Amino acid sequence: MPRADIVVYNIGELVTFMDGPLARVSEERAGIVREAGVAIRSGRIIDVGPSGRIRSSYDAETSINAEDRLATPGLVDPHTHPVFDGSREDELTLKVQGVPYSEILRRGGGIYRTVRRTVSASTSRLLELLLERLELMLRAGTTTVEVKTGYGLDLDEELRHLEVVRAAFGKARQLVVPTLLAHVPPQGADARAYAREFASTLVPEAASRGLATYVDVFCDRGAFGVEESRLILEAGLRSGLRARIHADQLAYIGCSEMAAGLGVDSMDHLERMPPENAKLLASRGIVAVLTPTSILSMIDSPRPPVEALREAGVFIALASDYNPNNMTPLVQTALQLAPYVLGLTQLEALAASTVNAARSLGLDNVVGRIAPGMRADIVVWDAENHKWLGYYWGFDLSLKVVAGGEIVKDSE
Ligand code: NIG
Ligand code: FE
Repeated sequence: MPRADIVVYNIGELVTFMDGPLARVSEERAGIVREAGVAIRSGRIIDVGPSGRIRSSYDAETSINAEDRLATPGLVDPHTHPVFDGSREDELTLKVQGVPYSEILRRGGGIYRTVRRTVSASTSRLLELLLERLELMLRAGTTTVEVKTGYGLDLDEELRHLEVVRAAFGKARQLVVPTLLAHVPPQGADARAYAREFASTLVPEAASRGLATYVDVFCDRGAFGVEESRLILEAGLRSGLRARIHADQLAYIGCSEMAAGLGVDSMDHLERMPPENAKLLASRGIVAVLTPTSILSMIDSPRPPVEALREAGVFIALASDYNPNNMTPLVQTALQLAPYVLGLTQLEALAASTVNAARSLGLDNVVGRIAPGMRADIVVWDAENHKWLGYYWGFDLSLKVVAGGEIVKDSE
């Protein structure tokens, strides 16, 4: 009998997303298998099928009884900022009292304040904080996570943060995708000159040292303008990095329109994107990464044009956007809030935090799906079916988590 490291059996409902990313999500296209089992060997999924057949076909070292519950691909968080020190809890009070995020930033708070704390933290402290955060995410089902820098605002300092991410890569138990983010120009700096230097020095250096997979830029009023952002993204693409962008979050200055022509994999936030731009994303297969918790953390933010994105056939992904302004480390929270904040169905939200999020990272042939050959990332939920995700909410609903073929959480 063939050997398996792990067999998961008695899965009441298995949502596989085996056919890949979905712009129009339906139960028919989600690859739902009832009474299912999954076999795992050497960190990969080797077989998916009826529970009875899977159980009787493999000599399994470890068996996991899912007890008729829901199982899904491990969650993929495609937008996080977890390399930081310090906190900003008093800014929440200010925001609630009516001071906008952009005003806090303009006064030297917000990102600038986190930068001041982060640049004085030791490398070992930043690594320790990052690993703690990644482990917290993992135990709630985040088996793949994109990690941005962006609290250095100085070329050497950003490289130091990328080194921290690389060190975490070897130690964390989930898949980590490193992104070099041009967050905001340093205070008092000439934004254009800084963007030029970032593009001509830091981007090629990070690429040639293999420290980043993606380049990203916060393109917005109060951050980088359209032309500065273009410089940075083009430099990334020329250096062999892939590109993503923070676009149209605080104001519409044309960021989504500019980036659509460049070949970015994702556009993130989009709260102020004109609905007609949805067609630009659809025609180029660009994923819209939406961040429901960060919408709430902004206090005064509008919602992105979800209806237009859906109508146009855009792949929608969800992210935690974990950062000191939005202290929510779990993409599971974004998944749970998506019906209420964005009007996504539970199945749309699940596709958005698995296979579509994987697509936004160019990894949909590696993670985000349950199919032979994929990385063995599986979550068993304390839920009968996928409709419970978002319906029963406000706590971590994951019971068992398998990441890369390793059981990283196993509760009853
Ligand atoms: O994705 N939009 C820009 N960057 C972050 C916020 C970072 C911060 O405030 O520290 C975001 O929401
Ligand atoms: Fe962000």
